Amino acid sequence: MNKRVVLITGGSAGMGLSTAIKFSENGDKVIITGRNQQKLDEVNKKYPDIYTIASDVSNSKDRKDLINIVNKIFGRIDILFSNVGVGIFKALTEISENEFDEIVNINYKASFFLIQEALKIMPDKGRIIINASWTHHRGLYSSSLYGSTKAAISHLAKTLAIELSPRKINVNAISPGYINTEQFNEDMLGAEIAKERKSQVPQNRFGETSEISGMVFFLASNEASYINGQDILIDGGMTAVHNY
Ligand SMILES: NC(=O)c1ccc[n+]([C@@H]2O[C@H](COP(=O)([O-])OP(=O)(O)OC[C@H]3O[C@@H](n4cnc5c(N)ncnc54)[C@H](OP(=O)(O)O)[C@@H]3O)[C@@H](O)[C@H]2O)c1
Repeated sequence: MNKRVVLITGGSAGMGLSTAIKFSENGDKVIITGRNQQKLDEVNKKYPDIYTIASDVSNSKDRKDLINIVNKIFGRIDILFSNVGVGIFKALTEISENEFDEIVNINYKASFFLIQEALKIMPDKGRIIINASWTHHRGLYSSSLYGSTKAAISHLAKTLAIELSPRKINVNAISPGYINTEQFNEDMLGAEIAKERKSQVPQNRFGETSEISGMVFFLASNEASYINGQDILIDGGMTAVHNY
């Protein structure tokens, strides 16, 4: 089988890294991005087959340069995992305009225009997977900004499923629940809050990054050829239940 070219934004930690390892172990050519060169170097040391490019996805020039570099070295992108996103949890009345611009830029605009750039070198039958969040599937106190940016990128999956149908490109989103990563984990919450959060999940635990990368890998596979325009919740059942 020809090796697939997989671009993952934000691949030096968390779900992005786990997904990069999964594709790389399958023999695919994997490129990851991140802002911190040191973190990228550490990944490269441990996983020499994973190609790293320092690039800030929220910066327009970086996005264009990234796609140009990938094109020069690999010639195409078969699979794009648009993964970068930053959490902010505050009441609407406490959010400044600067915070709004920053989060909309990273969580929504960056994905929107990265996909636009990536499509220039994506052949027919490519796959796009967007990392959204469980938070936009519920009205959640303190999630007006984060949740609405995730609703926005999730919506892209629906619209692009029809817009890109002539090119046979499937576009799906995933919506992780509570997943232990660098930016969000049980330790940072503290035992008491972590226990309360876990009690919202029928499985009574946080998820691990490998439980997300497995779904991304599946969505990029032939087995998932008829899944298109969907947003798949991976949350241990949290949003499916009302837990008294
Ligand atoms: N963790 C959760 O429970 C959870 C739940 C639902 C949804 N999500 C979503 O899942 C996605 C991945 O989150 P995660 O928790 O796996 O994150 P993470 O562990 O904090 O890792 C984030 C990765 O993205 C990179 N990154 C951050 N900002 C970037 C930028 N502007 N440009 C390029 N790379 C950037 C980081 O490297 P540098 O810092 O070096 O740039 C790092 O490699 C996000 O979209 C998040 O909103 C997370």
